[in-house]
Amino acid sequence: MKPLIAPSLLSADFLNLADDIEMVNLSEADWFHCDVMDGIFVPNISFGLPVISAIKRKAEKPLDVHLMIQHPERFIKDFKNAGADLLSVHYEVCTHLHRTLQEIRNLDMKAGIVLNPHTPVSVLDNILPEADFVLLMSVNPGFGGQSFIPETLNKIKRLKEMILKRNLQTLIEVDGGIGIDNAKLLIEAGADILVAGNAIFKSPDPLMTIKMLKNSVN
Ligand code: DX5
Ligand code: ZN
Repeated sequence: MKPLIAPSLLSADFLNLADDIEMVNLSEADWFHCDVMDGIFVPNISFGLPVISAIKRKAEKPLDVHLMIQHPERFIKDFKNAGADLLSVHYEVCTHLHRTLQEIRNLDMKAGIVLNPHTPVSVLDNILPEADFVLLMSVNPGFGGQSFIPETLNKIKRLKEMILKRNLQTLIEVDGGIGIDNAKLLIEAGADILVAGNAIFKSPDPLMTIKMLKNSVN
């Protein structure tokens, strides 16, 4: 199965964002990955609602919004209104994760749970059916261009087993340090969606890099 490819706009050229969005529109990529950071949950601040709304005006593919913020439940409706099609929240900051996922789904968005590298997939045991996808962080969230954490491969395999055993349709997304060198391994381990920032936007030929990521398995 070919993976879905979600270029992370965190690594795009913000001065020429429209050009980078158009490149993704014309590419074999499937979603736009948008990283929202609050400077508290993660040690960085990226962009927020007005920028997402602007991206939505130009993007011709779904917006996959990854919230790296505390109390994400306060902003679910705002991100829906800004144009999010998929919305993911970190397990580590959600006291009432079940309710938060339901609120996301009730607004007709796909709901995702994000796990930091140190959070085991076993915590998903009682919540898995409430999520459309699980996003496994393969770097510590906050920055683009970091190195892939190899233990993620075991997490993907374990999560895939949990999903298959329970006959669920949950998709596995992986985010951080992904490029054409490790894409195949990730897909073989069970990943369905690959996020890539630096590998795409710092590439001399982003369209070709997306094509190679998309076609890294037959
Ligand atoms: C990191 C973000 C990622 C980031 C990935 O906190 O969640 O989406 O943009 O960037 P690369 O692919 O460069 O590691
Ligand atoms: Zn992300």
